[in-house]
Amino acid sequence: VRVAVVFGGRSAEHAISCVSAGSVIAALDPERYEVVPVGIARDGRWVLPDPAQRLAITDGQLPEVTGGTAVSLVGDPAGRGLAVLEPARGIGAALTEVDVVFPVLHGAYGEDGTIQGLLEMSGLPYVGSGVFASAASMDKEFTKKLLASAGLPQGDHVVLRDAGGALWAHPDALSADDRERLGLPVFVKPSRAGSSIGITRVTDWAQFPEAVATAAAVDGKVVVEASVPGREVECGVLAGRDGGAPEASLPAEIRLKPGTDWYDFDAKYLEDAVEFDVPADLTPEQTRAVQEASCRAYLAMDCEGLARVDFFLGTGPDGEDRLVVNEVNTMPGFTPISMFPRMWAASGVPYPELVDRLVASALA
Ligand code: DAL
Ligand code: MG
Repeated sequence: VRVAVVFGGRSAEHAISCVSAGSVIAALDPERYEVVPVGIARDGRWVLPDPAQRLAITDGQLPEVTGGTAVSLVGDPAGRGLAVLEPARGIGAALTEVDVVFPVLHGAYGEDGTIQGLLEMSGLPYVGSGVFASAASMDKEFTKKLLASAGLPQGDHVVLRDAGGALWAHPDALSADDRERLGLPVFVKPSRAGSSIGITRVTDWAQFPEAVATAAAVDGKVVVEASVPGREVECGVLAGRDGGAPEASLPAEIRLKPGTDWYDFDAKYLEDAVEFDVPADLTPEQTRAVQEASCRAYLAMDCEGLARVDFFLGTGPDGEDRLVVNEVNTMPGFTPISMFPRMWAASGVPYPELVDRLVASALA
């Protein structure tokens, strides 16, 4: 089976995608898969990367797709496969045909339904969710709406839109009532982004205009979320085998080390600022509740193939557990420290088997 692993991309999560792809490529059994790595540079150029392309964080340096042979990826007219074309050799100079695409892309133009649309139009099988689930899960506003309508509790939040000007960036964009209700701290987030890029934890309303500007630089729609007290718990979901019900992994927990305020980009990837419990130290009932809510979220968002569902597990007014969904990631991180592959490994699905299942579900 020839698999095009597409990585990099135009989003702010370019480097993380490269690191994820490095791990996915390493996990694809060379006896069964022929991998065609396809990089997308930050400016959107598609390339066959240099074989020496670094796909890891080394000494704090993030990888990036730069050089390589320029290519375009088009559907085979007969819908049999994907041709990686090298335009320099002229139209029709097909280098390679592939059977399936694994878009290991995070964020805009990758996890948001856009490349999924391109692949749909080309009739090409690909790993992961389709256009709608990708677009809806990428957008925090619509994720919350869809999950709420499926009865999955959401944290309190306000959506600020760019009303054709700087209206939302005005310090009064959030009414006094909203401020009082949300309380401090709030998290100011770009509606469509990942890896905590563009997010500010606001502890004083004086920081709010700058926080909105930071988020708005990433996405013209900004979500202001109340802080949800509780443990940070994540859970992996995989499509069921043979069209069966989706399956959830054992959950994991992220614990911040003292001195770390929240799980931001640096804490995630660059600093030794967090501890991961894989699996999480939960009661059997809590584990079941997280797994059940994860599968419900996966279905509510119409996901396919895989998803990672992130939660806050807090305590309600009567001391009962209160589980709030934070977000759904349709192409979760696959880096060596990422939770999705580690949660599945802890659940009895080692990395090579995990990528096998993902490719198989794309071809099913
Ligand atoms: N957006 C990052 C890659 C994640 O969810 O793991
Ligand atoms: Mg995310």
